[in-house]
Amino acid sequence: MPQIPAPFPAARARRLRRNEWMRDLTRENALSVSDLIWPLFVRDGTGIEEPVSSMPGVMRRSIDKVVEAANEAANLGIPVIALFPYTDATKKTSDCAEAVNPDNLVNRATRAIKAAVPDIGIMLDVALDPYNSDGHDGLVQDGIVLNDETLMMLEQQALVQAEAGADILGPSDMMDGRIGVIRRALEGNEYFDTAIMSYSAKFASAFYGPFRDAVGASGALKGDKKTYQIDAGNADEALRMVARDLDEGADMVMVKPGMPYLDICTKVKSEFRVPTYAYQVSGEYAMIEAAAQNGWIDRDKVMMEALLAFKRAGCDGVLSYHAFEVAQRLRKDMDFF
Ligand code: PBG
Repeated sequence: MPQIPAPFPAARARRLRRNEWMRDLTRENALSVSDLIWPLFVRDGTGIEEPVSSMPGVMRRSIDKVVEAANEAANLGIPVIALFPYTDATKKTSDCAEAVNPDNLVNRATRAIKAAVPDIGIMLDVALDPYNSDGHDGLVQDGIVLNDETLMMLEQQALVQAEAGADILGPSDMMDGRIGVIRRALEGNEYFDTAIMSYSAKFASAFYGPFRDAVGASGALKGDKKTYQIDAGNADEALRMVARDLDEGADMVMVKPGMPYLDICTKVKSEFRVPTYAYQVSGEYAMIEAAAQNGWIDRDKVMMEALLAFKRAGCDGVLSYHAFEVAQRLRKDMDFF
């Protein structure tokens, strides 16, 4: 139970809100650069930075430009970037063969970044959707997303990504049994130190809409992802998924989307006390940018407040498309470490 304050006027809450230094002194949670994971979209070509229309300010970058961005992020102290491939439509097939190609776009980008910017962590999604002509995270047969057959693909995908140099694998596919399969494959192939951040509490959400545009999956997606992602009404189930993934070998867990699911973040952290992350997803980013463009909110203030909320909710870090800009601001305001 929180300490019950003395009655007024012995206690005046406003004494601690009186001015900026007092508020700084008594603030319980803070956001720092080391809390940030920056998602980046990769496309083919050279010298390209192509805007994503549904996510103002976000680009699809060719590998050389992703390397530049990774270098700038490392200079700011951002610990990890998460790479997502925008795969050419001609490389999307129903067998998702490109997912397990050791030289696919995301694996080439990973190698290039590792060579040029060795000090930044690289996280890669394990899921078939960027490579699937059906747009789903798993193999589809007769309209059904197949679980066990998909696991065999995810295992191969994880191995080629680990081989390319990924530091953290983020299984985001929501197939049952995936964490165990991936962990066994990593151990069996001597990738002892490849970490898994499981998208454990990943909800079937309309907030992913702009991301699917960014990776070119929205046109391809047939139906929705409700047969594998968690129903928006379920908190107990999300906790069971976290327990299961930890049991199967996840090192870190994630809640996704972020802001509409802050209650889940708090529950996961208080129940399991493990490294817990949230993904502030594309729809959350787009809402902030769109409202700001209309002059309805103060963009910069909302951007910082929304991320601080994740720390207050119990998260150890957050994936955010605002990460780069936020890191620049934090560095400017508090460069004393
Ligand atoms: C797919 C994946 C998605 C996101 C990350 N990995 C979309 C989905 O599940 O459809 C969403 C990220 C975002 O919306 O910012 N495996």
